[in-house]
Amino acid sequence: MKTTIANVSEFEGKTVTIGAWLANKRSSGKIAFLQLRDGTGFMQGVVVKNDVEEDVFNLAKNITQESSMYITGTIVEDTRSPLGYEMQVQEIELIHEAVDYPITPKEHGTEFLMDHRHLWLRSKKQHAVMKIRNEIIRATYQFFNDNGYVKVDPPILTGSSAEGTTELFHTKYFDEEAYLSQSGQLYMEAAAMALGKVFSFGPTFRAEKSKTRRHLIEFWMIEPEMAFVEHEESLEVQEQYVSFIVQSVLQNCKLELETLGRDTSKLENIKAPFPRISYDDAIELLKEKGFTDIEWGEDFGAPHETAIAESFDKPVFITNYPAEIKAFYMQPHPERPEVVLCADLIAPEGYGEIIGGSERINDLELMKKRYEQHELTGEAYNWYLELRKYGSVPHSGFGLGLERTVAWLSGVDHVRETIPFPRLLNRLYP
Ligand code: 4AD
Ligand code: MG
Repeated sequence: MKTTIANVSEFEGKTVTIGAWLANKRSSGKIAFLQLRDGTGFMQGVVVKNDVEEDVFNLAKNITQESSMYITGTIVEDTRSPLGYEMQVQEIELIHEAVDYPITPKEHGTEFLMDHRHLWLRSKKQHAVMKIRNEIIRATYQFFNDNGYVKVDPPILTGSSAEGTTELFHTKYFDEEAYLSQSGQLYMEAAAMALGKVFSFGPTFRAEKSKTRRHLIEFWMIEPEMAFVEHEESLEVQEQYVSFIVQSVLQNCKLELETLGRDTSKLENIKAPFPRISYDDAIELLKEKGFTDIEWGEDFGAPHETAIAESFDKPVFITNYPAEIKAFYMQPHPERPEVVLCADLIAPEGYGEIIGGSERINDLELMKKRYEQHELTGEAYNWYLELRKYGSVPHSGFGLGLERTVAWLSGVDHVRETIPFPRLLNRLYP
């Protein structure tokens, strides 16, 4: 019977065959312990010299790291392993012998590992991070589908900029100039006017010259957009959504969180509602915390966000930033037009901003004025304004950065480990 490591609990006491690679090995004269991986998980195979044919034991003793095989044996309980089971091996059929696998069980430097990302992905830790990423994606679809949202796919090649013009990747589009999408938002606003509540999930691109542990050049964003939904209502959706993905990961990725040594007590109380602090109060808080130079009107950097987050044990919304430092499309505060109806959601433990969102300007004349003030031109000018011309309604939306969320929940400190093949300032390979 062929099965996978993920399913061995169904086969206790039975003999099964698994297609696997050798992750690691220990052996003595009489017994060999094979650390097996098959993509679905990791499991130990025990080969006892006296219980198997001589050639099987010799193969087990000499098999090299990352060689592939069909391995057959009896599944038995093993309370010491996180999986709870191991295999008492009877037979091994070598498929392919790997020679000189470069990533050995010893420590390697980050650049070396990044150069071998195509192989590094096989390691236990990277496997766990990818499984957590997958669970966040799965839970995202579940949350929005269960709440009446329609998935809409905005284009990647665009003629417009959503988040400012300095970070665009330019490309040729036959005879025209095009960009890689920074955000699907403008298109999602059009979609919300057609479908009510929508969400997107796709790659976005920013030619940011930032070399930090939170910035990727290509990252994936989840962007919901909701017609007839005002700022405060949008914050409620955001806290429900983030709570849902955190609780889903806790429930469905226990083994992975354990592999990563994640302190899950810090995640368990991540349940809505989340605290809110205004930009004004955040400035005061920062001053109290020793950032004496900061002045109203300045944007926050990573150290500021971390300091603010330290005061809370849940993600915190920083609301109502100065209009000057935010995107052109944000709705002004009705009593204080110098600030906008927006919020950034800052993750705890120093993982930084995971969501940026706002209510959108729905008045045609004001939107035209903003286009002028921001010196924006381009393809979106007409169609985006037309959304305000025909049955304009209050609407809000937000974007959650997948990789920063994966970093937070996994407890890894750099986003380069949260995406299979990271695109970084100095890296387009592999
Ligand atoms: O705050 P941002 O720039 O917001 C937008 O793009 C809006 N148009 C979204 C919307 O309202 N539909 O980006 C949203 C999130 C950030 O909070 C952050 O988590 C992530 O995207 N992000 C990045 N993640 C990794 N690398 C980068 N360079 C990122 N830039 C933003
Ligand atoms: Mg932002």
